[in-house]
Amino acid sequence: MELPKRAGDTPIAIQLEEGKRYSWCSCGLSEKIALCDGKHKGSAFTPITFVAEKTETKYFCTCKATKNPPYCDGTHKK
Ligand code: FES
Repeated sequence: MELPKRAGDTPIAIQLEEGKRYSWCSCGLSEKIALCDGKHKGSAFTPITFVAEKTETKYFCTCKATKNPPYCDGTHKK
């Protein structure tokens, strides 16, 4: 099984805008972590894409070990 690359040790805060579409990088290869830049192409990974339900700041996982993707759940501390 292909594993994602650990892209960071702490979450990244992103200010989401209501109604805007976002794609979270699940492979860890993106140069725009925590968001997808298309580098997953040719791998087993696909980004998690969603539309922000409201304007708010959310903390996105960069270590790729979260159990609640795309958001940080504190697993990076272990
Ligand atoms: S950055 Fe991955 S769980 Fe926090």
